[in-house]
Amino acid sequence: MSDQTPVEKPWSGRFNEPTDAFVEAFTASVDFDQRLYRYDIEGSIAHATMLAKQEILTEAETESIIQGLIKIRQRIEQGQFNWSVALEDVHMNIESALTAEIGDAGKKLHTGRSRNDQVATDVRLYLRDEIVIISDEILRLQQALLNLAEREADTIMPGFTHLQTAQPITFGHHMMAWFEMLARDRDRLADCARRLNVSPLGAAALAGTTFPIDRHYTAELLGFDRPSENSLDSVSDRDFVIEFSAAASILMMHLSRFSEELIIWSSAQFSFITLSDSFCTGSSIMPQKKNPDVPELVRGKTGRIFGHLMGLLTLMKGQPLAYNKDNQEDKEPLFDTVDNLKGSLKVFADMMPVVSCNHQKMRQATMQGFATATDLADYLVRRGIAFRDAHEVVGKAVALCVERACDLSDLTLDELQKFSSTIGDDVFDVLTLEGSVAARNHIGGTAPDQVRQAIARGRASLA
Ligand code: ARG
Repeated sequence: MSDQTPVEKPWSGRFNEPTDAFVEAFTASVDFDQRLYRYDIEGSIAHATMLAKQEILTEAETESIIQGLIKIRQRIEQGQFNWSVALEDVHMNIESALTAEIGDAGKKLHTGRSRNDQVATDVRLYLRDEIVIISDEILRLQQALLNLAEREADTIMPGFTHLQTAQPITFGHHMMAWFEMLARDRDRLADCARRLNVSPLGAAALAGTTFPIDRHYTAELLGFDRPSENSLDSVSDRDFVIEFSAAASILMMHLSRFSEELIIWSSAQFSFITLSDSFCTGSSIMPQKKNPDVPELVRGKTGRIFGHLMGLLTLMKGQPLAYNKDNQEDKEPLFDTVDNLKGSLKVFADMMPVVSCNHQKMRQATMQGFATATDLADYLVRRGIAFRDAHEVVGKAVALCVERACDLSDLTLDELQKFSSTIGDDVFDVLTLEGSVAARNHIGGTAPDQVRQAIARGRASLA
C-alpha cells in the first residue's frame, strides 16, 4: 500500500513548484517495483561496502548504512514499511527510509551511483533468481514426463500428422517429445542467465563516476561474472529482459501446444486420457461436464506472454541512448511473465503425474485410419518393390478397406495377394500395432526399447 503524504523528494533542489498530484502518481513505479526491494538492498550493501574499501566512505558510515538497510528489509518483510508514491520508486523509498533511520550517513549511500545503474542491477539480480526457480519447475515437469513415459512405454496410440491418423506410436514416445522441448527451454533460460550475469553497477547515470570506485569488487560481491564493459550500454540495455521474455514465449508456446493435446485427448470423442478431478472444474448448467480448465488457461495465458514480448520489443525500439524513463515500463510485463510462467509450470508439473491413460480407447483409435499402411509399403519394399510402386499398391488396398469399412489386417492373405503376389503370410506381423512400433527400432524411433533408452538418457541428463 502507498500513501500520498507530502515528502521531500531527493531531487527537489532545482524545483520551485511541487509536482502535480496526478503527474506524481503517473510517473511513480513504487506500486509495482517494490517487489525488487531485496535486490535493491543487496545492491546497496555491496555498493556501500565497496565505498568503504575505497575509502570514499568511512567504515563507520558504511556499517551504519548496512545496519540501517537490514532493519529496513526486516520492516518491509514484516509489512511495516510505509511505501510512498511521492518517493516515486523502490530506490528512493528505501534511501529516504535509510536517512530517516540513520541520519546523515544515509545521504552518502548514493555517492558514485545513480538510480539508472541501480535499477539495471536490481532487475538483473531479480531475474537471475527467478530463472533458477523457473528452471527447477521445468525440471520437475520433465521428471514427471519421464515417469509417465516409463509407465506408458508400451502403450500404443495413434500418431498424427495433420491431425489425421498417421502411424502407430507409443504414449511414452509422445511424452518424451515434450521432454525434449522442455530440455531446450531450460537450456535457453540457462543461456539467458549466463548472458545477463554482468554488473552494471558503477555505470552511474550514463558516463561512469568521478569517484575511485572498484567495479570488479561490487560485481564479485553480487555474484556477477564481471562488470559490464560500457556505461552507456549498461544503463540502457534491457536485452536480457527481452531475451527472457522470448525464451518464456517459446516455453509457453510449448505448454500451449501440450495443453491443446491434453484438451483434445480428454474429450469424450477421444477419451485417450483422464485428467484428475482435482485439475478440472464443472459447469454450473450442464451437470455432465468436467472441463479441462487448467490446460485451457495455460493455453490462454500464452497470449499475454507473447503480448509482453511484443510490448518489450516495441518499448525499446525507438529509444536513443542512454537511460530513458520509458525503461520503467519493462517491469510490469516482466513480472507478469515471471508470475504466469511459474504458475503454468507448477500446475503442469502437479497435473501430469496424475494423468491416467485409457489404453483400450487409444488402441481402438489406432485401429482406425490405417495406421499400419506405411508398414505394409515398407514390407513390399523389402520384397523388392520400388517404394513409389509399393505406395500405389497399398493405396489400392486401403481404398478397398474404406469401401468395406475394415482394417488392412482384416483382409485375407488371398485378398492381399491380389494387390501384390509377393505378399506372404508373414505380412500379418507387420500389420499388427505391436509389430509396427517395435520395427521403428533406432535412436529417436517409437519402439518401446528405444523409448526406454531415451528415458535413461533423459534421466542421466538431469542428474
Ligand atoms: N523507477 C525507475 C525505473 O524503473 C528507476 C530509474 C529512474 N531513473 C531516473 N533517472 N529517473 O526505470
